[in-house]
Amino acid sequence: MTSAVGQDHQVATAAGGAWRTAVVYQIYPRSFADSNGDGIGDLPGITSRVPYLQSLNVDAVWLTPFYPSALADGGYDVDDHRDIDPKLGTLDDFDAMVAALHTAGITVIVDIVPNHTSNRHAWFVQALAAGRDAPERDRYLFRDGLGPAGEQPPNDWESLFGGSAWAPAGDGQWYFHCFAAEQPDLNWENEEVRADFRHTVRFWADRGVDGFRIDVAHGLRKDMSEPYPPWGEIADIIRLDGSHPLWDRDDVHEIYAEWRQIFNSYDPPRYAVAEASVHPARRARYTSPDSLGHAFNFAMQDADWRPEDYRSVINIGLADMINSGSTTSWLLGCHDTPRVATRYGLPLEDERPTQQVARSWLLTDGATPRMDGELGERRARAAIMILLALPGSTYIYQGDELGLHEVADLPRHVLEDPIARRSITDKGRDGCRVPLPWTPDGPSFGFGSGDAHLPQPDWLSSYAVNVQEHDPDSTLNLYRRALALRRDLFAGTEMSWVDSEPSVLHYERPGNVGCVTNFGAEPITLPDGEVLLSSVELADGQLPSDATAWLRMRSPKALGYPPTNLTHLGSHHRP
Ligand code: NOJ
Repeated sequence: MTSAVGQDHQVATAAGGAWRTAVVYQIYPRSFADSNGDGIGDLPGITSRVPYLQSLNVDAVWLTPFYPSALADGGYDVDDHRDIDPKLGTLDDFDAMVAALHTAGITVIVDIVPNHTSNRHAWFVQALAAGRDAPERDRYLFRDGLGPAGEQPPNDWESLFGGSAWAPAGDGQWYFHCFAAEQPDLNWENEEVRADFRHTVRFWADRGVDGFRIDVAHGLRKDMSEPYPPWGEIADIIRLDGSHPLWDRDDVHEIYAEWRQIFNSYDPPRYAVAEASVHPARRARYTSPDSLGHAFNFAMQDADWRPEDYRSVINIGLADMINSGSTTSWLLGCHDTPRVATRYGLPLEDERPTQQVARSWLLTDGATPRMDGELGERRARAAIMILLALPGSTYIYQGDELGLHEVADLPRHVLEDPIARRSITDKGRDGCRVPLPWTPDGPSFGFGSGDAHLPQPDWLSSYAVNVQEHDPDSTLNLYRRALALRRDLFAGTEMSWVDSEPSVLHYERPGNVGCVTNFGAEPITLPDGEVLLSSVELADGQLPSDATAWLRMRSPKALGYPPTNLTHLGSHHRP
């Protein structure tokens, strides 16, 4: 086989070890398992489900924020970065959870949210109380308003959640917030801010945390000097040269270089992955061993169900590895985007990517256009098998292993997401955050002993974990088998494309193992080999439409890995 990527670069620990190919399961704690019946998932709930995580065969879990929070943005409005929300448990519960996961051989990643605090954070309360120009305000981005009494915001910049990016302090000054008004941005030029986050990283690493997911990693450093460019000039946040005043500035990596020293002072070194919506050509800065070491590849999550989209996204991800010596982190979904089974059940359009179609479908509460749920689930099964056979690591969002759909018809009054409140053109992200069904009945389908914090539709019942456990063909059992096989089949970072029809995606990995996906309408004859796993049953030995098979090939035909032009693809990942 033509050797393709990676060749196991001896890059520093940042990108090294088991993390290069880890499968990470994302837990949104408030919607995973509720141990005390208050409707909110919690840490003891996670601990109680460690056997489930172990049976899935995942290597690690990533927990989105569990810190004290008023939930103005699903926990990304953090009151205290070094504590647990009392509704979710205590630090002792956290230690018990980490111990149970470690005993099960599962490592733990927590979310660090350095771009902003909540407006209830002690620093922000002090900043408001201290008054204009007080040193307490320098930890945030306060500026004088326009107009005689400062009654207008300092400029026309907009929040990524909609509306102005400025909120009034009440004394002629305004504070800047890229996200909700309850999430004031920190001033990363302030040494106290930097020292505090070094402390936070050490705090969790000392508690046994194995890695960190860095929220809004492309934010933090900002050029807030005047004259401010008008919003129209900077609304597109993707740039190739680091010149945007708010996003993906080169000097953000100074911060990560400091953190890298901290990560590497532990044995084993702590892992980090960047959540960074940047041009693919700039991702290598984040995946560099001097910086965070890994970064999510959101292009896969944004890809439409088309073989050419997949081919291109895969080539770019592989090129990342060549550029940085790291591996890419693939994902089909997360807590910020409509669920993959639903996206792939919506009609493909030429004008709009499926992500956009899904958002407008949500605005109609799922009425238009028609979503074919079965087709979406079938494609999502085929898709996860593509990801799991690729070099690199894969992130799985909780519930995707059950084939769950987006809950489209949540009534407006129950929505929790600030996007839904701040925008009339976006229903927000609650539809993928509805608590998981564990059993087919019970007050919240086994999530807890009471109701769930977001209403669960009746159809969740048939997707419940213990329904699927008894069905050998369920999506859950497909995930379990695929994850177990992956450990044996797809180590290392080499792969080669195999020449195929345009509607077929075919690549090989070392050991003559191949992954074949049929995007076309007709069944196809598989190459000569033993089928190890298929996303749906084969029909007369053929691979049906919208399906993937893993094979041990009898006559490998590797063509080698094509070079990729990195500069032509943008990213339309949302925050
Ligand atoms: C990215 C997180 O994934 C998202 O949920 C959050 O709203 C923003 N960062 C702001 O913290």
